[in-house]
This record gives sequence, structure tokens and C-alpha cells, in this order.
Amino acid sequence: MTYHKPLSIKTLNTTLLVIIFLINCQISSAQQAGKTDAIYSGLPWYDPNGAVISSHGANIIKEKNLFYFFGEAHTDTSNTFVGFNCYSSKDLYNWKFEQIALPVQSGGKLGPNRVGERPKVMKNPKSREFIMYMHVDTPGYKDQFVGYAVSKNITGPYQFKGALLFKEKPIKKWDMGTFQDDDGKGYLLTHGGVIHQLSDDYKSIVAETNKQITSGFESPTLFRKGNVYYFIGSHLTSWEKNDNYYYTSKSLSGPWISRGLIAPKDQLTWNSQTTFVLKIAGSKDTTYLFMGDRWSYPRQRSAATYVWQPIKFNGDSISLPKYLDAWTIDTKTGVANEKTIDFQTIANDSKQIQYQGNWEKSVIETIPVTRSSSDRASCSFTFKGIQIGLQTVVLPDNGYARIILADQKGTVLINNLVDMYAKTPASRLVFLSPVLRKAEYKLTVSVAGERPNWFDKKKINYGSTANNITISKLIIKE
Ligand code: GAL
Repeated sequence: MTYHKPLSIKTLNTTLLVIIFLINCQISSAQQAGKTDAIYSGLPWYDPNGAVISSHGANIIKEKNLFYFFGEAHTDTSNTFVGFNCYSSKDLYNWKFEQIALPVQSGGKLGPNRVGERPKVMKNPKSREFIMYMHVDTPGYKDQFVGYAVSKNITGPYQFKGALLFKEKPIKKWDMGTFQDDDGKGYLLTHGGVIHQLSDDYKSIVAETNKQITSGFESPTLFRKGNVYYFIGSHLTSWEKNDNYYYTSKSLSGPWISRGLIAPKDQLTWNSQTTFVLKIAGSKDTTYLFMGDRWSYPRQRSAATYVWQPIKFNGDSISLPKYLDAWTIDTKTGVANEKTIDFQTIANDSKQIQYQGNWEKSVIETIPVTRSSSDRASCSFTFKGIQIGLQTVVLPDNGYARIILADQKGTVLINNLVDMYAKTPASRLVFLSPVLRKAEYKLTVSVAGERPNWFDKKKINYGSTANNITISKLIIKE
């Protein structure tokens, strides 16, 4: 007789996790009935197949009426390079997965167990080739240089060519970005504010245009409006967010004038790190879209999100004065407008929300909330409608919440982690479902029992102090 050893709790948990991973976000197109109507910052975005959009440290370029969004693909288990994704969109709201633009190489510097970050793509005006630049490194960040890859098709696959050379030597820097000037000249930006001019074919460097401006200044992001160049960067705090700051100049070679922060102090750039500014020039207006990453280590695939906000200008000062949960951008006219989310709200203490396990009610800065960090705590809510969202108060001792959205038959449509952590407390929408077919659905939010927390290469610890989840209210659209 064969004897089957009973599964241990640990094996069971692992099996469950694998199953949960496999059924992660299976929204069929029948259920996903409508399109996204705005840019919603700080929430997981879903592609038409229901998969979470993974495209960080990104840039966007426009080609033949389509915007192409290139960024780091992530997993929830490690930071090693798993390829750079490419998505496309007409409206900057609804993103279709094109393909992995640059896959993991079979070996070499972007082979298995390496790091690849901050891909930036530019089209060479002469050759019409697309050139992608990136930060190449080891998982411990000990072998950094700027690499490049080329493709005739915008979506790739790009061919990795190795290090970008200046006087035959690689640029041994980590955070990088690119800038294409109005005259078609291409530039490489590296942390500290260094700018190098690219050769005519964009495949090597011909000159150092600007020397280091300051120490730090990671995630260098440069754009131009009129005859002013704006240079944004972050402090060095690993994946933790900080108050990003900027410089302006009338020339890429400086002098660069220090202009202060781009968002109100201590808001940590609305809890994000700059990566790119996209210019949307329309028939009526030109909008400059700030693209930031809200990193969420270690669950960067599920829980890292995007903070995209329109930049406000006052003379040659820039700012992100107010956080917009949602806003619209008309890609034809270039006009940006704040969008009010006028959903029905269900308060945290509503009888319609069923709480299970240990929860505590409290008030945080006048906002009533229900909180828990206990492993078995969850709450669920059944509703009839087309869309549901969750509002929290992000806090330094919040962790990950697991969000499960199921239809009436119990089919799981969304199964995702959302990050409720932030160093600076704020009332935030952290989840919004895609627009669904009108029907009855059940949303379950539970304590994941994990939190974003990590050590950087200097062994400094960052992240949340506890695993709490915090419910402020649900919003629904019938
Ligand atoms: C950030 C950088 C990211 C990533 C991270 C690793 O400062 O901007 O691209 O490298 O550090 O800790």
C-alpha cells in the first residue's frame, strides 16, 4: 500500500501561493467591459487581459499616433533583470502589452542573475532606428555601466550591444536617463547631473556636455520648455521616496540654477521618484506629464505603482502643487483637467462591510478608519455595479493588503497585493477595479502579513515598521 505523507502547512501554503499566483488577475475581456477614462496615480493598472502593468523606471515615446511605454518588468521575488516591457496606448490611460522589448539574454551582462534598470528609448532621426539605453549591473550593484540596445521596430526585440562608449570606455554610472533636444541631438544623463552628448547614430558618446552638478541626484530627468531646460532628480534613498528637486538652465552645459523641490516639502514627491517627463503638444495646449515610480520592494510586480501628474509652470518655476488622484489629458488638444471621482462611498463602519478577525476602529487626522495587522483579519463587501475602489490612509506602519475581486460564481477576477505604506500619512485611493460588466461582485481585503521593507547595499534598513492594513472607505459605481 502506498502511503501519502500529509502535506505540511508550509507546503500547503506554498502550494496555495503558487495557485494564487497562477490565477492572479484572470479578468476575461467579457468581464472587463469598459475603458479607463483618466490617469489614476498610485494604483495597480491592468492591461486588457487583467494582468498588472509592470513598466518601471520608464519612458514614453510617440510614434504614428501611438504612445509606447517602456519600463522594467518586475517579479515579486527578486530584483534581477527579467526584461524590459513595451506597452502601447492611444490615450495614455489604456495600455496594451506589446511584448518584452528586451528579454533576458542567454548569458553576459544582461543574462541571468543580473540587474537591468531604467530603460529609455529614443528614435534616431537619421537612421530611424530605435535605440534603448539602460543601467546594467550585478544584483549587489557592483558592476554598473550604461548599456544600449537597438531595433528597427519600435516594440523590439532590441538587440543588446553592451556598453555605450566614450573614448572607448564605458560610463560607469548607475541611475541614468536620456534627453532628445528639439534639434534631434541625443543626450545621456547620469546621476549627479552629468550630461553626455551622443554621436549622430546615438551609439556612442562624443562629448561631456555638462559636469556633475551635485552629489546624489539620482533618476535624472530632463526636459525643455521654450528656451529653458529643467533637470529633475532624487536624493539617494534606495527605493524609498524622497523630496525630488530640480535645476534650470538656458544651456545644457549650464550654469544650472538650483530651484528647490518640485512638490511640497515632506510629501516625498507625492510618494514617488521621478523617471521621465513626457511632453504632449496638442492643438490648444502643451502638457508636461511628470512620470514617477512608487516603488514597493519586494513586491515590485504587484504593488509598485505609477504617479503621473501634470506639471504646473509659473514663469520658469515648476511644481506639482496638489496630488491629483485622477486627471484627464486630451492627447489631441493637449489639455489636462482634474477629474472628480464621483462614486458612491461606503464608510469604513458601514454594516455592509463584513469584518472578520481582529480589527480596531480609530481616527487618523480626522479620518475614521478600521485597522488590523492580525494575520487572519479580512473584510468583504458584496455589491452590484461596474467598478469598485478602495481608499486608505497610507501610513508608516502599514503593509500589504491582499485584494480579491470575485464574480457571483466565485470566479476570481483580480487577486492582487496593494501597498498601504508611506512614510508620510495621506488619504489615498490604492485600488480601483477595471470597468466591469454590470453584475454582482464581492471584494475581499485581507491582511497579507507582509510589508515593504528592505536593506540597501550599505545595509541601511528602509520601509514599513508593521503589517497593518487600513480601511477608510470603499467607492463604487453602479
Ligand atoms: C534607486 C534607483 C533605482 C534602483 C534603486 C535600488 O535609487 O533610482 O533605479 O536602482 O535605487 O536601490
